[in-house]
Formats: sequence, structure tokens, C-alpha cells
Amino acid sequence: KRKMILDLDTGIDDAMAIAYAVGAPDVDLIGIISSYGNVLMPKAADNSLRILELLGATDVPVFLGEPHSSTTEHFEVMAISEQIHGANGIGDVDLPEPQRQVESQSGVDFLIDAVHQYGNDLTLVPTGPLTNLAAALKKAPDIATTIGNVTLMGGALTVPGNVSHFAEANINQDAEAANAVFTSNLPLTMVGLDVTLRTLLTKTETQQWRDLKTTAGAKFADIVDYYIGAYEITSPHLHGCALHDPLAVGVALDPSFVSTIDLNMFVQAEDVDYGRTIGDPARLNDPTNVKVAVNVERQRYLQTFMTYLTTLFKQH
Ligand code: BDR
Ligand code: CA
Repeated sequence: KRKMILDLDTGIDDAMAIAYAVGAPDVDLIGIISSYGNVLMPKAADNSLRILELLGATDVPVFLGEPHSSTTEHFEVMAISEQIHGANGIGDVDLPEPQRQVESQSGVDFLIDAVHQYGNDLTLVPTGPLTNLAAALKKAPDIATTIGNVTLMGGALTVPGNVSHFAEANINQDAEAANAVFTSNLPLTMVGLDVTLRTLLTKTETQQWRDLKTTAGAKFADIVDYYIGAYEITSPHLHGCALHDPLAVGVALDPSFVSTIDLNMFVQAEDVDYGRTIGDPARLNDPTNVKVAVNVERQRYLQTFMTYLTTLFKQH
């Protein structure tokens, strides 16, 4: 089984990423680190604990990460995040108070220790800002060459961004941290808007969860229907909600879901294109470290997604 760590700003698609990782038969989810973004960082941790409990995965430890970007002292949730994920980050659906607490070790130290322990066997999937990973790289630069793989949800190469013309939300939260990650020589796969906006879920699928007549099925259907409703207003041309974060988990486990191009990249951290993920013209002929997903086998992915989540929801 593949050792996996998720680094999440637990909103709705992050919650589906948890479900995918818990439901996938070939994953050993060894921990979840919290980030800020869709909600404040402590709330992301609280949401992760609630979702894990809903799914019966109470053995997965949750760690606190950085509460704001590497260049600011403070973070405030954007109005658009609240509109898409609800004020509580999980579609304003009530889930019981978690019975467990977060771990006392920091998420950054947990990540560093895990890389030292598992090395090549460890996959990290960040689906929020890259602040925690950049902090870990700063503290322990050796992890860049020892970690197995980092498959992140973020960025946009062939399509415009979703928070500005150039920037995707996760990268935009901390372009400096993202740039440190992209230029660190880590083995990186970028699952950005190029593929996540092509991988959509509709109420036809959430109805199948509801029909299971289980708590997890009903709660997830309520949570994701909120997200689909928000997409109907903000992105009516898509006809569904984007499976941003669970697609990154899927690609981490089965890279053949996407086709990629090999690049060296950097992230623009100033001017109007703040947050843009872009090929580095100065390193076009160097060995590459980033695989950028540019197309996706959406039907095959969606089938796998539904199999994993439905099987899991049936049991809880
Ligand atoms: C990304 O931003 C967050 O709002 C989502 O959870 C996803 O990780 C999409 O741009
Ligand atoms: Ca996210």
C-alpha cells in the first residue's frame, strides 16, 4: 500500500479527496495536514476530523499547518470561497463535533519526519496553498530529493485561472511558497485547472449516494449538492462541479488518468500575473522535474471515483 499524506484546506472538494483516499484500496493514509484557504486553518482541521469520523477513519491523525501565507501575518477567507464551500467549508451541513483532537506535533514537522521515515514510498498530495510544503523544504531541504512524489492540485497552464486571469486559487494564496516548491527539484505532478475543470460531477451521481440510505451517503450528497448549486450560479457553462482535489489523489495513485507534458516551471510572484504557473524559458533544455497534466480520461476516472466513494459510503 502506498503511504500518503494529504495537505488540505478542507472545503468540499478537499472532503471528497479524503473520501477518495480512504476508499481507495491501495492507500495507507498516514496523516492529514491542515492549511488555510476555503476556511481558516483550524477550521480545516476540524472539518477533516469530522469527515474522517463520518467515514469511520478515526485512526488517521490530523495536524495543524501554517495559518497564513509565507508573506503575510494574517489570512481572511474570501467571500467567493464562502459562496462555493459554505460558511463552515462543508456546504453548511452539520456534522457532529469531532470526538478526537488534532495532534500536538506541527504538520510541517510531521511531514519532515514522514519523509525521513518513508522516503520514496511516500506520496504527498497538497490540495490547498503550498505554504506548509515550502516551510518543510526550508527547514529540511533534503526532503526534496528523498520524497517519493508530490501530486498537487493547483495552477493552470493552458486555461485561465479561477481567481484572476492567470492565477488558480491555491497557488494565488501564496505564490512565493508555490514558486519555492516548483523550483525545488521535487518530483512534482501538477493537476491544475487544465484537467480538473474537465472532470465534473452532477446531481445524478450524488443521488446515487443518497439512495444508499446511509449517513455518509446522505451527508456527502448534501455537502456536494451545495457545491454543485454554487457552480450552477458561478459557472453555469460547466454543467456540474469540478472534482479538483479528488482528481489529484486519483492521479497520485494512477498517473495514467492524465496525459502530461514535462517542464521546468516557476510561479510568478509579482505584477498582474501574480500566481501564474509557467514554463521556465531559461531551463527549457534542462532535465525536468514537473509533469503538468493537460488532459484527462474523465470517464474512467469518474467510474473509479464513484466505485471508491459508493463502496465506502455504503458501509457508514
Ligand atoms: C482549489 O481551490 C480550492 O477552493 C479548492 O478546494 C481547490 O483546491 C481550486 O482552485
Ligand atoms: Ca482545496
